[in-house]
This record gives sequence, structure tokens and C-alpha cells, in this order.
Amino acid sequence: MKTETISIARALSKLGYCSRARAALIIKNGKVKVNGKPVRTPSYKVDTEHDIIEVDNRRLAKPATIVVMLNKPIGYVTTSSDELSRKTVYELIPVDLHLFAVGRLDIGTSGLLLFTNNGQLQDRITSPEKEVSKTYIATVSGKITDEHLDRLLKGVEITDGVVVTADECRVLAVEFSRTQVELKIHEGKNRQVRKMFESIGKNVVALHRSAIGRLELDLPEGGWRKVSEEELQLIFS
Ligand code: URA
Repeated sequence: MKTETISIARALSKLGYCSRARAALIIKNGKVKVNGKPVRTPSYKVDTEHDIIEVDNRRLAKPATIVVMLNKPIGYVTTSSDELSRKTVYELIPVDLHLFAVGRLDIGTSGLLLFTNNGQLQDRITSPEKEVSKTYIATVSGKITDEHLDRLLKGVEITDGVVVTADECRVLAVEFSRTQVELKIHEGKNRQVRKMFESIGKNVVALHRSAIGRLELDLPEGGWRKVSEEELQLIFS
């Protein structure tokens, strides 16, 4: 059976023991064993499903998966520490759950952001190959015609030859000089939705993520809650 290996430093962080930087220190200090043998190299490859990993002679067990949804307000960055001291999304969820964000939303984007302590789940949701759809509501200046929608569906170049497509898109509302468009994509490239509209000559003035798969945001701005196992299935169905 093919198994995935990752560095022991990453494994310690994925298993929720500590950050990767701290893991490197602990490993170099000889506190970590893999299958009974001390390992002092942070890049040493392990398989977290099958290898026995110990810190200070205590086996690390896989913690139960926790998933949290947040309705991210604009003005918050999706990073744990920001060099510009801006507000971070981690200030909005309980710190003692030791969660990390699943993908990211720009500072100017609001809406559904998931957090988990399970690295494999994070990969399943964010990896473009897994094709989990993310639904955005973009408010753009000007009118959006069927031709614009067609271009988004057929594929637009966002940067240096990178072409991306919308899986679905439709106009939701037309308000004065703005149009609200619902757009589904399954990739998460940097500022992808904004760049997709830029490439058809349109400027996004507001962007909100309303769903991941069939899991829909149902919280007030800034609110968070745990996602149940049944709800988790909605992401992949
Ligand atoms: N696309 C963007 O442009 N920004 C986001 O935050 C998410 C998707």
C-alpha cells in the first residue's frame, strides 16, 4: 500500500504537538523517537499512519478531528502572526483548540473560512485535484453579460500563462452600477476570483465566500461554531 511520508518536524505539528519551528528544536535536542530509535534530523521522513512517534518517551496519538467554521469579517488576515500587526482570523476562534486555517481568504474578503487540526482533511479540501467547489459572491462594478460569464466558464488567464475556469457562474442581482455574481471554483490560487474578473475587465468591489462544497455559511459576521461529522460530508458530496 502506498503511504505518504512527511518530515518528522511537520508530523509533530500536524499531530498538534507544537509548531514546526519548535519541533525542529525538540528533534535536534534528541527528545524524539521514531519506531523506538532517536531521530535528530527534522527532515527525517515518517509516515504518521504507521510509524510510532514518541516525544519524551510518550507516544503521540492522533487527536480527534475538530473542524470549525468562521464567518470572517473583512479586515482580518489569514495568518497566525502578521508582521504589520494587523488583526488575524486566529483572534476570532478559541486558541486552545490548536487549529489552522483551511486555505485562506484575503484581508478584503469575507465569509466562510474553515479551521481544523487534521492536516489530511486540510489537504483534501484545498487540493485542486480533489475538486471541492468553493462558492463566492462577487460584487463587481458595471454590467456582466452572458459573454462575460462564458469567458469565465471557458477559462481566463490570471497570471503568466496560468489559465483557470469557473465551474459555474450566474448573475444574482443587478444594482445600479454594480452586478452581483455567484461563482464556483475548485482551486484556491492567490486572489483568484479578483484576478478572474480583472482578466475580463471587471473590478471586484466586494467578495464573500458563501459555501465550501454543499456546506453553507450560517453564522453572523465574526461568529464561529464547530462543524459536525455529518456536516463535514456535505463538503465532499
Ligand atoms: N479569491 C480571491 O480573489 N480572494 C479570496 O480571498 C478568495 C478567492
